Amino acid sequence: MLSRVVFTSVTILLHLISAAADQSQSPLHDDPLRVPQSKTHRVAIIGAGPGGSSASFYLNQFSQSLDLDVDLDITVFDANPRIGGRTTTVNALDDPRYPTELGASIFVKVNHILYNATRDFGLAPSGKIYEATPESQYELGIWDGNQFVFKTASDDDDDDDTRSSWRGWWDIAKLLWKYGLSPIRTQRATKAAVGAFLQVYEEPLFPFRSLQEAVDRTALDAYTGVSGREVLQETHVSELFSREIIQASTRVNYASNLGGIHGLETLVCMAIEGAMAVDGGNWQIFDEMVKRSASRVLLNTTVTDVTQDPGKKSYRLQTNDPDLDAHFNADAYDTVILAAPYQFANISFTPPLVDPPSKIPYVSLYVTLLTSPHQLSPAYFGLQSQADVPSSILTTLPEYLNDELSSRRGVDAVGPPGFWSISTLRVLHPDIDGLSFSGPISSNSNSNSTNSGRRPTETDTESDTNSKTDSETQYLYKIFSPAPLTGTFVSWILGFPHAPTSKEDPVSTLPKEDITWLYEKHWHSYPYETPRRTFDNFTLHTMSSLMNGPEPEAEGENLFYLSSMESFISTMETSALSGMNVAKLIIDQLQLQQRQPQT
Ligand SMILES: Cc1cc2nc3c(=O)[nH]c(=O)nc-3n(C[C@H](O)[C@H](O)[C@H](O)COP(=O)(O)OP(=O)(O)OC[C@H]3O[C@@H](n4cnc5c(N)ncnc54)[C@H](O)[C@@H]3O)c2cc1C
Ligand SMILES: *[C@@H]1O[C@H](CO)[C@@H](O)[C@H](O)[C@H]1NC(C)=O
Ligand SMILES: *[C@@H]1O[C@H](CO)[C@@H](O)[C@H](O)[C@H]1NC(C)=O
Ligand SMILES: *[C@@H]1O[C@H](CO)[C@@H](O)[C@H](O)[C@H]1NC(C)=O
Ligand SMILES: *[C@@H]1O[C@H](CO)[C@@H](O)[C@H](O)[C@H]1NC(C)=O
Ligand SMILES: *[C@@H]1O[C@H](CO)[C@@H](O)[C@H](O)[C@H]1NC(C)=O
Repeated sequence: MLSRVVFTSVTILLHLISAAADQSQSPLHDDPLRVPQSKTHRVAIIGAGPGGSSASFYLNQFSQSLDLDVDLDITVFDANPRIGGRTTTVNALDDPRYPTELGASIFVKVNHILYNATRDFGLAPSGKIYEATPESQYELGIWDGNQFVFKTASDDDDDDDTRSSWRGWWDIAKLLWKYGLSPIRTQRATKAAVGAFLQVYEEPLFPFRSLQEAVDRTALDAYTGVSGREVLQETHVSELFSREIIQASTRVNYASNLGGIHGLETLVCMAIEGAMAVDGGNWQIFDEMVKRSASRVLLNTTVTDVTQDPGKKSYRLQTNDPDLDAHFNADAYDTVILAAPYQFANISFTPPLVDPPSKIPYVSLYVTLLTSPHQLSPAYFGLQSQADVPSSILTTLPEYLNDELSSRRGVDAVGPPGFWSISTLRVLHPDIDGLSFSGPISSNSNSNSTNSGRRPTETDTESDTNSKTDSETQYLYKIFSPAPLTGTFVSWILGFPHAPTSKEDPVSTLPKEDITWLYEKHWHSYPYETPRRTFDNFTLHTMSSLMNGPEPEAEGENLFYLSSMESFISTMETSALSGMNVAKLIIDQLQLQQRQPQT
């Protein structure tokens, strides 16, 4: 309760500072009681994930470049106490030297918005997304529950930076005699699809009034309308390559087999050239976007109601915080952008929406981050020595189950492996790591404190660390699975003895010397990308705006929705594109209204 009060006071303070700054910049605001002469257009953005952050940033960018006669005033709301949405880090071992992506972790060089932002904000790209353990000859393996169907050798180079990512994936795959022309055909199809997609960033396609228009004009419905499996068959990619390689990628990226994901998302999974991440966390991109553009950021604040002013096209927002509403939220907003999946936002609209966005099934994904002094067990994977165990393991289905499970979901789709992927993210040496770089040095590594400085944990569970083990090498693992992991499973894959004490057998009951740190998170990670040719609009309409007859056309749209993008493709970049597109639609509309003033 105390921190709530402090938080509210801080936001009030920030508001006063920004109001003061506004006044010192603009002589028109000299007298706060007088109506300002240049018109202020108030925008509310609900959700500060990649979509909402990008909308805020590009509203600001586009309005500046067009020299609008309107002052934009942007308020960003998020229910979480942080910016980033499904993009967030937690500190392994509760140590700030080891920020670790818990949600979205990778983007690629053709992701123009994220790539440009990383460059323009001066954020450090990190090429190092996975680490090869020194003991293993193999960087990556693909496991079907019985055997490894594919392995890539670790680079012999001793330089950590060059051996540590999956950059070599394509080069190796391309050469593989085993798959014939299939890798090349896949790469060609991927290039064609990515090329078609990139058109939507440019005029004349950009900005697109509806996703449907963009999909139709790029003919991408040829890929979204069929399953990954069908697209690959049409492209003459062999059954073997599809199952062993491409399906491993759709499983790690979207928790789906090839029968349960559309063709475009399948090819997106293969467009991994120039994979990158932001050092310290991708959320920094979105944090920076919001900081550079929003007039007000109200975190830890859930919007509960959006109510249209009777007879007008403006809206009042109500949040879970009446104090805050009284201070900052009393004025009406001219435009509202919902930047979160409608079905999870739990917002009540008055009057109700005509045709609210359809409910779509989201993947239920369990992410387990843990550190352990143990390496992946050769015995569990039927191998002789540590050197034979790949540092990271993707999975696929064995041939005899492939047809049967291909379009199923969750635990029914995962098959004999029982998990989607296990990645060794880093090899940690808490005693010596970071002594040579300038990042903050942990307060934990040499002290008895266990949980100091830890971030609020939302609804997640986290176990305590054990400082006794700090002198050992620790392996940091990330495991994706369709159900919570059990202690027994973890003890098997890491090769230590364990006798379960309960039927649930949670990982958190494992001894601290075996699992030195644990963080478990259940996500609604992304939609099941089932084949589809029709897509929801970026605009929402309330009952009354419809009843106003033909009028709305002249007044324009003022209720926008970003997450319709997610059933087309769900990535940080495409959500950011949705935000940039809606920002342009709004600015163009304001410009039009400026030229044809209403009487
Ligand atoms: C484990 C995992 C791995 C992933 N891997 C990748 C990857 O490697 N690369 C990639 O590009 N993408 C990846 N993704 C997908 C990516 O995270 C999403 O596509 C992206 O975050 C969607 O952005 P968004 O802004 O549309 O929604 P979100 O990121 O979900 O943001 C929506 C925000 O709205 C807020 N909100 C919701 N309702 C309200 C309300 N009523 N009031 C106020 N605030 C509200 C939420 O708190 C949230 O912060 C991954 C996702 C997960 C979970
Ligand atoms: C990214 O930056 C390049 C210039 O380096 C520019 O041409 C391009 O339009 C930018 N794209 C986006 C989406 O910002
Ligand atoms: C967020 O709000 C909750 C209660 O609504 C409060 O317990 C928590 O401390 C707040 N967090 C922050 C960072 O303000
Ligand atoms: C949705 O909102 C209603 C009313 O504001 C509230 O009673 C309910 O608990 C919320 N549900 C969820 C899942 O947040
Ligand atoms: C750690 O705990 C031990 C015993 O409880 C104590 O003697 C020691 O001073 C503590 N060290 C630190 C750094 O707090
Ligand atoms: C989506 O928008 C287009 C163009 O504005 C319109 O023709 C269509 O009816 C809309 N569809 C829905 C479902 O609202």
